[in-house]
Amino acid sequence: MTASTTPTTSTGTSAGTGVERAEGWWRDAVVYQIYPRSFADSNGDGTGDLRGIIDHLDHLSELGVDVVWLSPVYASPMDDNGYDISDYQRIDPLFGSLEDMDELLEQAHARGIKIVMDLVVNHTSDEHAWFEESRRPGSAKRDWYWWRPAREGHEPGTPGAEPTNWSSFFSPSAWQYDEASGEYYLHLFTRKQPDLNWENPEVRQAVYAMMRWWVDRGVDGFRMDVINLISKPVELRDLEPEAGHAYAFPGAEVAHGPRLQEFLREMNEAVGLDRHRLLTVGEMPGSTIEDARAITDPGAGMLNMVFTFEHMNVDVGPSGNKFDPVPLDLVALKRNLESWQVGLADVGWNSLYWDNHDQPRAVSRFGDDSPEYRVASAKTLASVLHAHRGTPYVYQGDELGMTNTQFVDISSYQDVESLNYHAQATSLGVAAEEIMAGLAVRSRDNARTPMQWDDTHQAGFTQGVPWLSVNPNYVVVNAKAERQDPASVFHHVRRLIELRHEQPVLAEGRFELLLGDDPQLWVVRRTLGEQTLLLVANCSSAPATVAEGSLPALDAAQLLLATHGDRRGAELAPWESRMFLV
Ligand code: NOJ
Repeated sequence: MTASTTPTTSTGTSAGTGVERAEGWWRDAVVYQIYPRSFADSNGDGTGDLRGIIDHLDHLSELGVDVVWLSPVYASPMDDNGYDISDYQRIDPLFGSLEDMDELLEQAHARGIKIVMDLVVNHTSDEHAWFEESRRPGSAKRDWYWWRPAREGHEPGTPGAEPTNWSSFFSPSAWQYDEASGEYYLHLFTRKQPDLNWENPEVRQAVYAMMRWWVDRGVDGFRMDVINLISKPVELRDLEPEAGHAYAFPGAEVAHGPRLQEFLREMNEAVGLDRHRLLTVGEMPGSTIEDARAITDPGAGMLNMVFTFEHMNVDVGPSGNKFDPVPLDLVALKRNLESWQVGLADVGWNSLYWDNHDQPRAVSRFGDDSPEYRVASAKTLASVLHAHRGTPYVYQGDELGMTNTQFVDISSYQDVESLNYHAQATSLGVAAEEIMAGLAVRSRDNARTPMQWDDTHQAGFTQGVPWLSVNPNYVVVNAKAERQDPASVFHHVRRLIELRHEQPVLAEGRFELLLGDDPQLWVVRRTLGEQTLLLVANCSSAPATVAEGSLPALDAAQLLLATHGDRRGAELAPWESRMFLV
């Protein structure tokens, strides 16, 4: 590896600060996540596609993002909307063709936008040729997946005969019985997503070869789906289930397994992730600050950054059931993000996100999506996120302040997780209203409703019938209206992205949380050389007051961005925020 091609060894001087800063082009970049089936439909079949993305690249250019992360567009039976891949080197016809993909790369690159692919290699689809071959007992690929016989003394295929008592993310048992071979295969997600056996070097080499193929095609990085689950203990053992449950989720057993770091280093080297200066972000449920430090240490040759889930769990109740949330404790949320900022301050790098295709909409969850406060709270949440140190991720529609949807009937839901939860909770006797209330606030469908482009038929998303209903608020919340309105959420987010590019302190400055225990105010100070940036944000739907003398004087400060104009007094309106250079 040479210095000129290594993103982590070169340095630059931050404009106006005289401060040397480490490089890695992604450190002052902003990533925009596209969920292709919900972004823009060009052919009227109701599902978004690559051509739809190409047609809307100007929206992204105007917003100013540096990178697009594309959720999976590969060939797939779509059991989990493309996170079940049957051919890594083909585009699913629903989304277009490889030629469309090449054109997207070319047109995005022409606008200075990089493209990061979703890499789903903890599992494949059960319709992938590797699995179809593996399914045949005695085949050369039998060991490419986790096949195990029934529990000793049990009739294969009968209740309780599974090799271990593990549950999966999406179904009661993580094992699926295969009658033809009389054995079970492991699937940590749906039964159509069998887990690859990374212990087998042939599997790893096949994955790396596929990644190189995409790098040669011009992609600029990978978002790695549940990558911290790829190393499992070779001996799979029973776990202690919670009272009243037959199965136990093997989170701690399979996350950050014994060979994870070895595999990540090997992948980096074999694919040339650092050599090619690619953006790499690992989705890592259950990761700790220590894990993230080790994995994102630039000297360690693994990944640029990881997605932590800790702040996604702050409002999950003691039951651990995400569909049964508790009210948000703002101080806990602030303190959690602070701990990651401090933990990765000198080594490693944070990714910053409020939501994505797996989470409810940020403004509905952490803000206030009532007509009165939707705009201000969406802006303020964006300011808070961008004021942290790390690479911010904007999920499609968040730049418009898109909200959760309001489905009243289970038939409106499409996501496999929502439907499985509904079926399981119903069979356990949970009241229907309770189930629907949980889905309304937590279902992944919330984030997947079609992108709201304008106030015409189906929000301008499709000429046909959308695969998931459009949120009726598209008549007010849409890209066309917001692009024309300088006071919109869109222009606020656009300005935040611009500021990240203009002000090195936003990308690199030292982070401090001020007034950490204040239950309404979120105050962040960033410092880089002579530069100090201060964000004062009221993250509540009630007025807030800054106690006298508790913050630096702001009379002479330069206002960079605010929700309510240039106001410097101690009183903040609900969801008011102000960002200053002090
Ligand atoms: C995480 C992805 O983000 C999610 O959408 C998917 O269901 C699981 N991994 C399984 O691939």
